[in-house]
Amino acid sequence: MQVVKYMFQPHGDERGQLVAIEELKDIPFTVKRVYYMYDTGEDVRRGFHAHKALEQILVCVHGSCKILLDDGFEKKVVPLERPYEGLYVANNMWREMYDFSSDCVLMVLASELYDQSDYIRDYDEFISLVKGRGE
Ligand code: TYD
Repeated sequence: MQVVKYMFQPHGDERGQLVAIEELKDIPFTVKRVYYMYDTGEDVRRGFHAHKALEQILVCVHGSCKILLDDGFEKKVVPLERPYEGLYVANNMWREMYDFSSDCVLMVLASELYDQSDYIRDYDEFISLVKGRGE
């Protein structure tokens, strides 16, 4: 499994840092939705789903957390610890987010509007979907 982590260019000067992310330039899709998680409990693990079509970029704009990516064949854990890093999460990729620092703000740039029917929330269903396609 190839993990794609974008390193966005911080524009730093004596005032501090600024990161700009432009659709189809810095990331490979147009952004239809932005959401973010904060005040996440210490022992919380969330996500536990894949998407049929949605693509996302995860940016930990403050604090840190870990992302488990699972394509059905291989699992990888990716730490997000810097506000200029963006983790690309493709469609058909199971994800779990955990180890949130108490100050973590995890922002997600999403290629589609919120659509419950795009979710695969059953792990066995996810596995048969990706394995069925791979054979
Ligand atoms: P949820 O899907 O449980 O988050 P995750 O599985 O990624 O941990 O979402 C939590 C709540 O927020 C749920 O009531 C649905 C709502 N929600 C929206 O209204 N719009 C969105 O874009 C997202 C991601 C969630």
